[in-house]
Amino acid sequence: MGTLIRGGRVVSAAGTAAADVLIEGEKIARVAESIDAGEHQIVDATGLLVLPGGIDVHTHLDMPFGGTVSSDDYESGTRAAVIGGTTTVVDFAIQSRGHSMTEAFKTWRAKGEGKACIDYALHMSVTDLGPNDVWLDDVDRMVAEGITSFKIFMAYPNSLMVNDATVFKLMQRTAKLGALVCVHAENGAVIDVIVEQALAEGKTGPLNHALTRPVLAEAEAVHRVVAISEMAGGASVYIVHVSCKEALHEVAAARARGVNVTAETCIQYLVLSIEDDMGRADFEDAKLVFTPPLRERNNQVPLWDGLKSDVLQVVSTDHCPFRFADQKSLGLGNFTKIPNGAPGIENRMQLTFHHGVNAGRISLERFVEITAESPARIFGLYPRKGIIAAGSDADIVLWNPAATYTISAATQNMHTDYSIYEGFEGTGNVRAVYSRGELVVEGGGFIGRVGRGEYLRRKIAEREVATQ
Ligand code: URP
Ligand code: ZN
Ligand code: ZN
Repeated sequence: MGTLIRGGRVVSAAGTAAADVLIEGEKIARVAESIDAGEHQIVDATGLLVLPGGIDVHTHLDMPFGGTVSSDDYESGTRAAVIGGTTTVVDFAIQSRGHSMTEAFKTWRAKGEGKACIDYALHMSVTDLGPNDVWLDDVDRMVAEGITSFKIFMAYPNSLMVNDATVFKLMQRTAKLGALVCVHAENGAVIDVIVEQALAEGKTGPLNHALTRPVLAEAEAVHRVVAISEMAGGASVYIVHVSCKEALHEVAAARARGVNVTAETCIQYLVLSIEDDMGRADFEDAKLVFTPPLRERNNQVPLWDGLKSDVLQVVSTDHCPFRFADQKSLGLGNFTKIPNGAPGIENRMQLTFHHGVNAGRISLERFVEITAESPARIFGLYPRKGIIAAGSDADIVLWNPAATYTISAATQNMHTDYSIYEGFEGTGNVRAVYSRGELVVEGGGFIGRVGRGEYLRRKIAEREVATQ
């Protein structure tokens, strides 16, 4: 006996069709216009959209950063994710300087083990190639462990940043393997000088975080890293959290000349802005201190257009939560000490749907593509994840396009004492979620077992050839 989801509209990047979906065990057994009830348990999906579970490829759970640790661990973070319709996260294992990637892999596997409520995978954040570049061979070892994407930071000089030589050597290796390099693109050295100058002028409040990180620092880094990837033999690059039109133009230009570059933006850059959401009193702006910072409102339309025209392929969250009361407050009197990051893992699907589909900025199919299918394809999870098709994991969201909601810290599941979307109202929300065939979200709450999430070994993805 399986579970038969009947009467809904099944959405994929390719189209939307009225169809029944049969789940058997952990997999989707059939998708067809009409499937016999047989002995199956029937789930009535009349009026609902049947979506592939969302995939958030940019999260920082249980991450030591900025003198503290992000406030959602694998349990609370993945629980909040799935309540919001995300059934897979790809988090970052962070290599500590002086330690191998293999050590980082073990540390992050242990963080997820017994805690993850949904399936998860890892990128490897590379900070140190080791004496005589000995840890470059870890790249091959990581690929064997199912880590097929590597992250480099061109910002945060005193903690995570790597120099161009490291980027180049890493890319020479990933180009040979077909692995992907994810890039936090910002010119960290220049930003550090601007920051020091601002502090010397007595500019210490949280808004200065945004004011000391120019859009050109982001665009320049995108340009540079793309060029390095070309010099390294055509390494595949994925630019994370594109926040402004200047950086977007660099991605578009690279894709136009056939470079294998893909890119994401994050939901916060699409719906929030300096003018609308910052400039508040009493250290409130610290809630919105993340990197790259919030930009001016005039960046939002270009970013939405970039998603529509496939310059950008993914919407993620960069979920990196810190409590206001005892974590963000580390930066009272000095904005450089505010831990960088904000919560959002729970809100990505509802906000992208409301501000994207309902607002007429993207189609329903593109919504599914940028929140599930493209992330699965780019990061080597497709077709196991990211699509409702026979043989795929039964990660399914029953989505009520008419449900209304108001976002509030008082009702959220993320472990923060604030929401950057406080008071946001929207239409379209999760009704129920299946993860590998198991009903795990119903009535707005998680009803699955903590620790049921599995570590996903990813394969090397078939890279698209850029055509923009
Ligand atoms: O502010 C942010 N984004 N914190 C997490 C680390 C990063 O840069 O992605
Ligand atoms: Zn970043
Ligand atoms: Zn991040």
